Amino acid sequence: MRIAIDGPASSGKSSVGQRVADELGFRFLDTGLLYRAITRRAIDLGWFIAPTTAADVASERYAQVRSDLTDLARETDAQGSKSSFTMVIGGYSLTESQLEAADVELFVPAVASIASVRDALRAVQRNVAARGGSVLAGRDIGTVVLPDAECKIFLDATAEARASRRALQRGYLIGSEEHKSILASLVARDAEDRARPVAPLVAAADAVTIHTDKLELADVVQRVVAQARKVAR
Ligand code: C5P
Repeated sequence: MRIAIDGPASSGKSSVGQRVADELGFRFLDTGLLYRAITRRAIDLGWFIAPTTAADVASERYAQVRSDLTDLARETDAQGSKSSFTMVIGGYSLTESQLEAADVELFVPAVASIASVRDALRAVQRNVAARGGSVLAGRDIGTVVLPDAECKIFLDATAEARASRRALQRGYLIGSEEHKSILASLVARDAEDRARPVAPLVAAADAVTIHTDKLELADVVQRVVAQARKVAR
């Protein structure tokens, strides 16, 4: 059984996916970490010096960066087992705090818009899913990575609800500058993820959409588990 969970930034995909996987004894991969890992490495290598959008990386002057990012993607792996995967690029492991940094969120949609990067990462994701019961969370799992997944979920919530949740998780007050900047960053990232021509953020036609604004995490988990059990019958 493969469970695909897609949705916009901070819609709860990884919290839900992790808990669903624990409950069912499945492995869980948060596929956003793969895109974040490549972006982190590229920033650290000095490849992005100015704000860079998907439109920039599509241009001729970024041809070399596109090719270098694709090479990085080919060296990228998710190593581990069950629910704990570490992102490794050419033997270099990245920690979660390195992947969650704000600069990564600024550049990651541009990196994720490159078709050849996505092609290379698709193999890593399918490899994890091929090893038995699995839950994969991302943007294009139900549409592109695992189009024949048995159970597809699209988690949705308003940008305001998502930004508030994330601000509280990080210990910021609602209405604070940090909260405002989280909201602005979510909105910008979603817009780029939805607009890109390759594997845009969209619900698969056969996905069950769950609006999470008014739901507790445990309720969302139970709905996903119930859907997985229903399709397994
Ligand atoms: O889920 P997370 O916020 O960590 O994803 C970071 C970024 O990686 C997204 O904004 C998106 O650009 C990209 N991504 C993607 N496809 C996926 C997972 C993430 O394009 N399956």
